[in-house]
Amino acid sequence: MAGRIARSFIDDLVSRVDIVEVIDARVPLKKAGREYEACCPFHNEKTPSFKVNQQKQFYHCFGCKAGGSAITFLMEYDHLEFVEAIEELAKHIGVEVEYEEGGRSDPEQQRLQKEAKTNLYDLLGQCDRYYRQQLRQHPRASGAVDYLKNRGLSGEIAARYNIGYAPPGTNIEQAIPGQTEQLIISGMLIRKDDGKTFDRFWHRIMFPIRDSRGRVIGFGGRIIPEQNGENSPSAAKYLNSPETPIFHKGRELYGLYEVRKALRDIPRLLVVEGYMDVIALAQQDINYAVASLGTACTTEHVQKLFRLASEVVFCFDGDRAGHEAAWRALENSLPGLQGTQQIRFLFLPDGEDPDSMVRKTGKQGFEELIDKAQSLSQYFFDHLREGISRHDLEGHRTLIDKTKPYLQKMSDAAYKTLLIKDLASYTQRDERDLHGLIGSGQGPEPAFNSSPPRVSFSSSNNQQLPPSLVRTALRCLLFHPPLASELKETESLSQIDQPGMGLLLDLLDILKTNPTLTTAALLERWRGTIEGQHLAKLATWQPTLNDPESLQQEFLGAIERLQAQHLSARTDTLLAKANQGVLSPEEKTELQTLLSRT
Ligand code: UTP
Ligand code: MN
Repeated sequence: MAGRIARSFIDDLVSRVDIVEVIDARVPLKKAGREYEACCPFHNEKTPSFKVNQQKQFYHCFGCKAGGSAITFLMEYDHLEFVEAIEELAKHIGVEVEYEEGGRSDPEQQRLQKEAKTNLYDLLGQCDRYYRQQLRQHPRASGAVDYLKNRGLSGEIAARYNIGYAPPGTNIEQAIPGQTEQLIISGMLIRKDDGKTFDRFWHRIMFPIRDSRGRVIGFGGRIIPEQNGENSPSAAKYLNSPETPIFHKGRELYGLYEVRKALRDIPRLLVVEGYMDVIALAQQDINYAVASLGTACTTEHVQKLFRLASEVVFCFDGDRAGHEAAWRALENSLPGLQGTQQIRFLFLPDGEDPDSMVRKTGKQGFEELIDKAQSLSQYFFDHLREGISRHDLEGHRTLIDKTKPYLQKMSDAAYKTLLIKDLASYTQRDERDLHGLIGSGQGPEPAFNSSPPRVSFSSSNNQQLPPSLVRTALRCLLFHPPLASELKETESLSQIDQPGMGLLLDLLDILKTNPTLTTAALLERWRGTIEGQHLAKLATWQPTLNDPESLQQEFLGAIERLQAQHLSARTDTLLAKANQGVLSPEEKTELQTLLSRT
């Protein structure tokens, strides 16, 4: 795998790119005071609540709460992956992305790696063309063609999905000569112990798997049932490309590129299990289905799906395996789920898969099924309530216990509140009690009680209360990062045990070595984390008095009060110990110093 993108490169990129320019090229912006604004491209609105701040290099929508750096914007607006967004921005300012390998970055190695990957894309593109050509002209392809026709596929759909045919025998090496090693790396060719090579795919119908840019990154090959002989009866129904430098099953979804090509706006995505399900649905003009490649839906899959659509419907067979797969998908979705995202579950009758079903119901009938799919909450509680036989106090308590670990992992307060509301009605308990029992913060700011524990904000925070001192310091820093240099030392702060203190110290630490980072560049450090979501919210704060001096006063004032609070609490502790006569000699000295300060 290629190395990670160098952290310093991201810092540099985010500082050099101008977010106003990047967004304005896609969504025309208007100057409004110190910021720029537009109607939000991520939700429907008539008056602009989408703001872009040039100084912070940060955008934010007060309506739908979208927000982030230029990287985030490209990921959301152009539906790019993180690395793709960075590549796009790098291209925009004319620099090469710097990758690092095992912490070091060796430009020559990077260049070679990049070249090797480019070659693999190229190579699989050639394989793809070869297989499609074979479907049209190989003498043995008629079996494949007949099979596809029998399954109701039109030539147009076969062409849209680039369906091909891998003929029997060893072919790919002759078809693409001089590339043996690369063909092995790409998984198309297998080398046996005796050094001989043979094709992985042999007399099979070929389904190319494309990445979000449409490049072929792997294949699935289906056995052709009626022609025996070439494939042994025990051969797997589908063979898939192995993991390669450019193909990772846990990340890719079959059919996603085709969905994006077919639809400009994607209101919802349907996740099914098989290649043929995706294709059969497309044949019936349901153009928004994708398949996870024979694996459970991963967190990465879910993130990818929600970058494109706000609703995801998981469709599974009604059998045991289907239910297990559905639950795994739910488990992988829950922690990252945001309030604007909707997940539903559709279970098909036993013995049916989307392919067989849609051929019976047609487009309209199938979409009616989708419309009636269970909500996340319905499925979640149905599943957890299974096996709880009693619906009395005892049963209610079991349900709460079973629900608790799932709710605690959720990062979105609004979503959690929604599920707690349903839990309250199932268990006839008060919602507020359940919030307490589950230990989740209520209100607009998320409780920081999930991992990692270092930054736990107390859950009792309430909008009416003034922000904590740590919060005040954090939001001042995010508003104007150079403030960090006003602090002479941070050593004394590290003694203070307050919610969010770890985060504040991390922030100060980063700014000590990178004093010129913008707000957006800072937030990039916490991309994809709960702390990141929290910081992004704090980053939208605007001081009432917008002059540098008041801001500095507010920041230093908060820090001083934190220190003072800490010292007086420490004094109290030591005095109490002194009263009990259990003070160690070191503590005695400490107490004397403390008392002499005041
Ligand atoms: P299915 O057996 O449901 O596939 O397996 P399907 O697409 O409906 O196949 P048809 O209708 O019989 O042609 C679901 C998915 O599991 C993976 C494939 O990705 C398949 O699409 N699979 C299945 C394999 O990788 N290998 C197998 O042998 C079978
Ligand atoms: Mn099937």
